[in-house]
Amino acid sequence: MSTLIANGTVVTADLTYKADVLIEDGQIIAIGHGLKGDEVLDATGCYVMPGGIDPHTHLEMPFMGTYSADDFDSGTRAALAGGTTMVVDFALPAPGQGLLDALKMWDNKSTRAHCDYSFHMAVTWWGEQVFDEMQAVTERGINTFKHFMAYKGALMVNDDELFASFRRCADLGAIPMVHAENGDVVAELSARLLAEGNTGPEAHAYSRPPQVEGEATNRAIMIADMAGVPLYVVHTSCEDSHEAIRRARMAGKRVWGEPLIQHLTLDEGEYFNADWDHAARRVMSPPFRDKRHQDSLWAGLSSGSLSVVATDHCAFTTAQKRFGVGNFTQIPNGTGGLEDRLPMLWTAGVNTGRITMNEFVAVTSTNIAKILNIYPKKGAVLVGADADLVVWDPAAEKTITAARQQSAIDYNVFEGKRVKGLPRFTLSRGHVAVTEGRMSSVEGHGKFVARPPMGPVSKALSAWKDLTAPRPVQRSGIPASGV
Ligand code: URP
Ligand code: ZN
Ligand code: ZN
Ligand code: ZN
Repeated sequence: MSTLIANGTVVTADLTYKADVLIEDGQIIAIGHGLKGDEVLDATGCYVMPGGIDPHTHLEMPFMGTYSADDFDSGTRAALAGGTTMVVDFALPAPGQGLLDALKMWDNKSTRAHCDYSFHMAVTWWGEQVFDEMQAVTERGINTFKHFMAYKGALMVNDDELFASFRRCADLGAIPMVHAENGDVVAELSARLLAEGNTGPEAHAYSRPPQVEGEATNRAIMIADMAGVPLYVVHTSCEDSHEAIRRARMAGKRVWGEPLIQHLTLDEGEYFNADWDHAARRVMSPPFRDKRHQDSLWAGLSSGSLSVVATDHCAFTTAQKRFGVGNFTQIPNGTGGLEDRLPMLWTAGVNTGRITMNEFVAVTSTNIAKILNIYPKKGAVLVGADADLVVWDPAAEKTITAARQQSAIDYNVFEGKRVKGLPRFTLSRGHVAVTEGRMSSVEGHGKFVARPPMGPVSKALSAWKDLTAPRPVQRSGIPASGV
């Protein structure tokens, strides 16, 4: 049974052209004109694009004394509803837990996925077991290792551990990632704020000023450079961090920055809302910033100094957020966004002229597919690529509301936003999972996507680091040691 996407305009990271797309056995088998398929999807007036890849989700994650509320069922349904056809979730070992043990837990949870998925592995502590198991994890098809420079006393790792793990990544051809905030300073500021009676959700923002992010981003970049490895900085939220990334890239360092759709479109004013629930529902790390920082992130996307737009989807219900009444440090950190990332970015980015359609595809799909070494299986509209596609209707509109979302939580941080540009169809490996908002996705349809190490950038950087490594100077005559 073949499926033809007919009468649309193909939009990729570098091309826009009219063509039909023919799919069989989950892959694209032809692109052109005059093609025939058993089933025909009408894409008149639509753009046919690679489905979104969200490289930053936390589904059913144990965190801050609870579990994030969206699992691989509701989370991947939300993804597909919004045109995202692959998620990369973080396998998170508890401190002291083995990496392979944590991976088993994530394997079990992910059997419910409606779309394809992969994992990053978090390095939440350091020791011989972690060092050893990083190789087995890489052989399982995980080429990215995430490090938290914040969450002191829980997930945070120190500079010596960062350096050791980054060096291990370099040897394995893997890419380290960082949550870059100075966790020591955040802990000090939080304690002081609480002592001064600043207990509400707005104090979460006061406790994590842009400087803690800028400092940690720069530190991670320098440590990665000394370890001879590329670096991926998750949830870049401010100019201070963006500036460090921009400067590093200009100096030839291999660094990627990932702003979130939340930071691009929501600002710190949310934390000053008189309604405690409204503010607490938006507590995440890093916090939302002021408009100056938003402008910096948008400039990064159009200039290319920032590479990927993600969500960091880590959704908690209002009841879970209320764990932090009277003490902001107990509010579970995280917000949702999987269903809204593409429509929000299209509306705020493409419809306003801040980014082009091709840049939209690059930052939502193609760039991250290349970074994660799964291009062109994912992130492409090419013969032989997986038919993970979104047929995008630029004229379709809706108002975002929790009442009609796939996510399991009881609110939406984008509630009331009007978006223009929505999926007409979303296809997961050729299976039509969404038609104009109606779900036909299948639980368990999603498959794990293995990501081999030593992608092009890792290979190039390791060659360069080898060539420029310290070497002893060969000398003809060595003087006798003087006594
Ligand atoms: O607040 C956030 N971002 N929660 C999820 C965990 C993380 O730090 O990415
Ligand atoms: Zn984080
Ligand atoms: Zn995260
Ligand atoms: Zn099907």
